[in-house]
Amino acid sequence: MKKVQIKINPAKKTSYPIFIGENLLDNVYSIIQQYTSASKFLIVTNETIYPLWGDKLKNKNSEFIILPDGEVYKNMDILNKIIDKALEIKLERKDAIIALGGGVCGDIAGFAASIYQRGIDFIQIPTTLLAQVDSSVGGKVAVNHKSGKNMIGSFYQPKAVIADINTLLTLDNRQFKTGLSEVLKYAFIENSCGCRVNFNFFHFLNENSDEIISRDTKVLRELVKICCTLKGCVVNQDEKEKGLRAILNFGHTYAHAIENLTEYKKYTHGEAVSIGMKFVFDLSLRLNLINEKYYQNCINLINKYNLKTELDIKFSKDKFYEAMHSDKKVSGGKINFVLPVIGNKVEIKNNIDKNIVVQGI
Ligand code: NAD
Ligand code: GLY
Repeated sequence: MKKVQIKINPAKKTSYPIFIGENLLDNVYSIIQQYTSASKFLIVTNETIYPLWGDKLKNKNSEFIILPDGEVYKNMDILNKIIDKALEIKLERKDAIIALGGGVCGDIAGFAASIYQRGIDFIQIPTTLLAQVDSSVGGKVAVNHKSGKNMIGSFYQPKAVIADINTLLTLDNRQFKTGLSEVLKYAFIENSCGCRVNFNFFHFLNENSDEIISRDTKVLRELVKICCTLKGCVVNQDEKEKGLRAILNFGHTYAHAIENLTEYKKYTHGEAVSIGMKFVFDLSLRLNLINEKYYQNCINLINKYNLKTELDIKFSKDKFYEAMHSDKKVSGGKINFVLPVIGNKVEIKNNIDKNIVVQGI
């Protein structure tokens, strides 16, 4: 088992562990009970995950709420149902909510925990690759609003994260690949994360692609550990995205516009992100921030994992640019681009001419 410690705010002692390993769910309450004094747990999961992994969490102190599966259910109505259930089972302030699932369950369960009785303990058990390397770490919790994704939410850190690598073995290929997009993102931003350790994650991903694609659990354990450490370095320095944390949105400015214009139906988040990453590499090349050689090395890595890089629909350039502006990350009407520069680093720029931005759309 590997452990990564997140230390968000040393002054306020906001620190929590991420446990990463195989078979962690076999004895999950022995871990959980070290990080909360709750005597009752409400487990938020969904209809797909419950039959696969629900049994591992069943005990006399736990109650389940089983949500319908899908991003469209990450909304206020379902949030209210979670709160109703918590009240119905008389969950108290010292009790806890556990998220068992991907980013959708984690985001909505975490938001429920942050508002129920002004905040109760929250434990993350991420079961998708995307959730293990990204959404379960760093405390962003939210639901969607019809005007946009994650529009209602808060920053609320879990008491512990338990990433059982075995859960990744029941994911379908499309969802596994969706997580790989966020994984590759870390390789492109590694040297801007401000970590003292250098993992040379780009090289790790190049060398271990066969094992990763075939889901060798030992290699995946190392991969999840590196991603969580890198994300931890970033959020420890900038919990509330005042600056540095924006680098985690590498590729996301294009991705969010793609998801928005296709109503979150055509592409998974990771597919939109890998297409978005290709767009920012193209943009950086046009702006001479990277050279051909660096560009090709990075695109080769994306291709090695067979991730989506091209749009298969044509958008109007104006509509696309407008969609980019509706993103939460826009400030003062300006779009912030996280652009790759040589050396697995990024720079944030917000003054790029529209025609250069939408070239290739
Ligand atoms: P998801 O939660 O919808 O899960 C993807 C699919 O996999 C679902 O159908 C789910 O039922 C299924 N699934 C989950 N675990 C499984 C398992 N072990 N075996 C088989 N099937 C399984 O999607 P996701 O990609 O995990 O997360 C996307 C969400 O995460 C979005 O809502 C996004 O906004 C959010 N997100 C949040 C953050 C953050 O920092 N909070 C970061 C990135 C993404
Ligand atoms: N996934 C981006 C962030 O956590 O900030």
